[in-house]
Amino acid sequence: MEDKNVMEKIISLCKRRGFIFQGSEIYGGLAGIYDYGPRGVELLNNIKRAWWSANVYEKDNFYGLDAGMFKNPRVWEASGHTSGFSDPLAECKKCNARIRVDKVLDAVGVSADEKMGEEQINELFDAHRADIACPKCGAHDFSRVRKFNLLVKSNLGDFTSEGNEPVYLPGEACQGIYLDYKNVVDSMQPKIPFGIAQIGKAFRNEISPRNFLFRTREMEQADTQLFIRPNENKEAYERIKNERLEWYVSLGIKRENLRFKQHENLVFYAKDAWDIEYNFPWGFDEIEGIHDRTDYDLTQHMKFSGVDLNYFDSETNEKYIPWILETSAGMGRILMAVMTDAYHEDEMAGETRVVLKLSPKIAPVKAMVAPLLKNKPELVAKAREVRKELQKVHPAIAWDDNGNIGKRYRRQDEIGTPFCITIDFDTLGEKPELKDTVTLRHRDSGEQERLTIAEVAERIKEAIQ
Ligand code: GAP
Repeated sequence: MEDKNVMEKIISLCKRRGFIFQGSEIYGGLAGIYDYGPRGVELLNNIKRAWWSANVYEKDNFYGLDAGMFKNPRVWEASGHTSGFSDPLAECKKCNARIRVDKVLDAVGVSADEKMGEEQINELFDAHRADIACPKCGAHDFSRVRKFNLLVKSNLGDFTSEGNEPVYLPGEACQGIYLDYKNVVDSMQPKIPFGIAQIGKAFRNEISPRNFLFRTREMEQADTQLFIRPNENKEAYERIKNERLEWYVSLGIKRENLRFKQHENLVFYAKDAWDIEYNFPWGFDEIEGIHDRTDYDLTQHMKFSGVDLNYFDSETNEKYIPWILETSAGMGRILMAVMTDAYHEDEMAGETRVVLKLSPKIAPVKAMVAPLLKNKPELVAKAREVRKELQKVHPAIAWDDNGNIGKRYRRQDEIGTPFCITIDFDTLGEKPELKDTVTLRHRDSGEQERLTIAEVAERIKEAIQ
């Protein structure tokens, strides 16, 4: 969308129509934390179901998982997160604003490698200090750069006793998959290549949460890890990249708003990394990371746990550590991409209307049923009957008898409901030839047609598949 204010409009719609709320809002909020409201949770669950379907049910040899969030503290040492998972940070001496040094260097065309230690990044920063102004006050006076670990610390159990070490909230959800890889192999006996899929929470002490759900401190990641034979990564990697991009198209996102981008600076665990980016109102930005993690994770966990994590390949009679190809998508970012892509303003009946052109597959409400007049008990009773009938197709069929019919349509347009069904006196048989027919109104075109209840049920069924 061209409109520069579209982000503000979407944020306002999200609150007004019960999609997304600021977390702890009545206490003034908590930076980087959001809640899903009644419509948001439906949309989120529909996206998750579509993801699960594509990555577990529709794939051969893929297994679902839901690992506990807390893990033995050794896990984050083995994974490299306690030492390597950090952002370089400097403070403006004038206004105390904190800046992400890698980002500001990037903005002046200088690339800072993730693996750089504090000394190296200070040297690089010093060489370019003159070009970098504080984004808040414009000063050029910064503190030394510190590397700031992103893991969120917590405690568990008897935290009053001395010497009890902290546990961490997961910095990335996929570690649960690596820890249960052996259990899945032992219990399901998968033949390589096989995959494990999980949707799990992750937490990061992001220095500057920004852009609504884009950079938050609590997030949900939908991950697949494909376990493959060593060095058989090339072809599979290309296939996965394309499959993942097509999945976004299947959610209704316009293809021209999606693209791939290869990472120049690799995170510590990856040999190759590509992002799928979406064209957000501020430009193309990452929604999913696709990483070639080689044997890094399982080798590290074998070393730190002392447990043999080799896979016995009965086809080749060999034992080896499988390589891993990962896909990792942030649910909040997907939801934002879906909302941005679906947001439209158009003219209808001489008025500007806001409409979310969501795919019926993921729309939070599939259809709204309304009696033409709410003070006519016979219309209300029939409309209730119709709603019950349509709920056999999908339970998310809303009821709205509030205000005139035009207002009801507008409310449903704003939350992306694909169909509205109105029950009037003809439905009751005032015109005998129209008995048991209803008006079906289409969200995108505003067109209306007269159909039997069975035909409407069929239309909804077809649309949400
Ligand atoms: N296990 C790999 C991993 O965590 P990542 O690229 O750091 O890789 C994967 O994260 C995805 O998680 C990103 O593409 C993004 O969609 C989402 N994500 C990462 N950090 C996020 C944040 N602070 N807020 C919201 N989503 C985030």
